[in-house]
Amino acid sequence: MTDTPVKLGLIGWPVTHSLSPQIHESWLQQQELTGSYGLVPVEDPAHLAGKLQELTQAGYRGVNVTIPHKEAVVPLMDELNPAAKAIGAVNTMLFEEGQITGHNTDAFGLIENLKQQVEEWSPTEKAVMVLGAGGAARAAVYAFQQEGARILITNRTLEKADALCQEFGAKSVAWEEKESALEFVDLLVNTTSLGMTGQPALEIDLGPLPSTAIVYDIVYNPLETRLLEQAKARNLKAVTGLGMLIFQAQKAFEIWTGCVPAVDLESLGQSLRKLC
Ligand code: ATR
Repeated sequence: MTDTPVKLGLIGWPVTHSLSPQIHESWLQQQELTGSYGLVPVEDPAHLAGKLQELTQAGYRGVNVTIPHKEAVVPLMDELNPAAKAIGAVNTMLFEEGQITGHNTDAFGLIENLKQQVEEWSPTEKAVMVLGAGGAARAAVYAFQQEGARILITNRTLEKADALCQEFGAKSVAWEEKESALEFVDLLVNTTSLGMTGQPALEIDLGPLPSTAIVYDIVYNPLETRLLEQAKARNLKAVTGLGMLIFQAQKAFEIWTGCVPAVDLESLGQSLRKLC
């Protein structure tokens, strides 16, 4: 990298409550790089193409993309990396030599978070149950498929679970019967919006899970969801999705700068907790 300031940002709507500027600006400092990470609010998907052209002309190195545009930007990319192609969504763009490459670092973030939080743990050959079949579920299912896990998907709308299963070689379970499959599950992952502040609770009885099972909640607002409280009450390992946010950001930062920032999950978590 030269001394040119690294111009980065986040496209989404709304973007005002994002934690990404704090994360990336602390890493720019850590790596002694000049640059900035700004918010790029875009409400109407019809304005995305024009905005990308504007950012290219303004010398941006890359941007993250968040809700609701992760899928809408896919056809605007000159190239897609394998994860973005399989997931059908882009969360990171690299602007290089007039070309835009779309990446998806969410799957990496999920697996890296789990590996950092659970010592010596690997999803290979493990039975993973994914709750949900939306956009976040696609990234999770792709991640576990890549790691060689056996995947079960349960979703309120069974057809969506079935479609995802067919695409990624997983098995579906009816939402009403999810508890019946828990006794063979090594890792339970919530990718639905249930349990998020302002959303309905996730009603599930964790009783049948083995005592060695891990429970992961992609929801990090609140930081400790009722699902994670239930897991802790059963003495199960409980992992919050805040780490996924941090590790998907770490991979994005590496794509833009070539530097892998050191992640101190504990102290970063503490400062982000205040902002959540
Ligand atoms: P995201 O991109 O964040 O995954 P999404 O694509 O809208 O968002 O997916 C939301 C997920 O939460 C879906 O699996 C959805 O279930 P349906 O496919 O049946 O809609 C799930 N979800 C949302 N509200 C729910 C509820 N009240 N009960 C059960 N599942 C719910």
